[in-house]
Amino acid sequence: MSDQEREWHEAERELKKPGERPDPSLKITRRTFLHKSLVAGAVSGAATYGWFPLINTLTMAYGAEAPFSFAWISDTHLYPKNVNTRFVEKATRAVKEVQAMKPPADFLIFGGDLAQLGDPVELRLGNDILKEITIKKHFIPGEHDWYLDMGKTWVSLFGNSPWTFEHKGVTFIGIDTVSRAPDYWSATKMSPKERMGHMAVLDGSVAGPWAGVGSDQLQWLSKTLSPIAKNRPIVIFSHNPLYEYYPPWNFWVRDWRQVHEILKPYQNVTNIHGHTHQVLYNEIGTMRSIGMLATSWPWPYAPQGVPVLTKPMIRVNPGDIFDGVGWGKMTVKPPKVEHEYMMWRPAVYAEAEVDSGTGDNDNQRLSPRVADQMWPYK
Ligand SMILES: [Fe+2]
Ligand SMILES: [Fe+2]
Repeated sequence: MSDQEREWHEAERELKKPGERPDPSLKITRRTFLHKSLVAGAVSGAATYGWFPLINTLTMAYGAEAPFSFAWISDTHLYPKNVNTRFVEKATRAVKEVQAMKPPADFLIFGGDLAQLGDPVELRLGNDILKEITIKKHFIPGEHDWYLDMGKTWVSLFGNSPWTFEHKGVTFIGIDTVSRAPDYWSATKMSPKERMGHMAVLDGSVAGPWAGVGSDQLQWLSKTLSPIAKNRPIVIFSHNPLYEYYPPWNFWVRDWRQVHEILKPYQNVTNIHGHTHQVLYNEIGTMRSIGMLATSWPWPYAPQGVPVLTKPMIRVNPGDIFDGVGWGKMTVKPPKVEHEYMMWRPAVYAEAEVDSGTGDNDNQRLSPRVADQMWPYK
């Protein structure tokens, strides 16, 4: 057995204990049915999508005190209006639908990538669009929001991360997984626009392994969780997924194993993340991760390493800008939380890999890889 294989096995043994799953009462059920649009007629062209599908209802057990729901919007990737209004249209549609929820959601999480190129014009446009939502809003940044001015406009508009709050028996946590990219720009004297340009691509060969939590936030997380009962429901929001997902793409946080070390003692943790722009579901130990839809565009699935528990969505129709995108809604009805992908498309699940582009579904190992070793903040 090679050293690398030995490391793989060790990581597997440590993080995926036999039979260990999220709380045994947590059953995932998948239901596909139609329900009436929340805002039929509220946006232009609504006649064609007056009904939208409710898909992939994850039924999860929580010990929350009272029923409530919350909504998630992310990855709007807005351009200035004079460049492109397609993404504005889709963000506006999601915002109208969230605002029209009956009963209203208790709060909205905006999960990052509001802007496309971090332009203050884009961020202010996003702020204006989101103002239509009058419930409480909580924000975590995406890399597209950050690397033009290193978060200056983002923080001035939406405040700092990480943050935490308690709500009806659930602990909610938002972390920043995007702002700690190692400095690849100074030595080559890149302009802010060039720097941002390298963050706006999927493989990121120049930007390197930028996504991570960083030692200061790991410490903060550990301290924040320490007084919390081990069986309390915890929902942790991050822009990037908190597990390794296809190293050649910048999908995931490099210090995810340290995050798991901290979260491992807690029995009821759900990570909700953006950035991957696709239906994605994973479990590691007792923690589950749910990947949310973008409003802007769906990314293809990685050619390998798609979590086996994911039921992939089919390839989208490139002629329909509302296909494969949407927002998310969680309804907490003790002891269940229903997660709904509010996707603007009627048929969502692929029957075969060839329909979804998920490639090799057999490569599911939790493995320390070269990319891990490049993360400088241990
Ligand atoms: Fe994104
Ligand atoms: Fe992103």
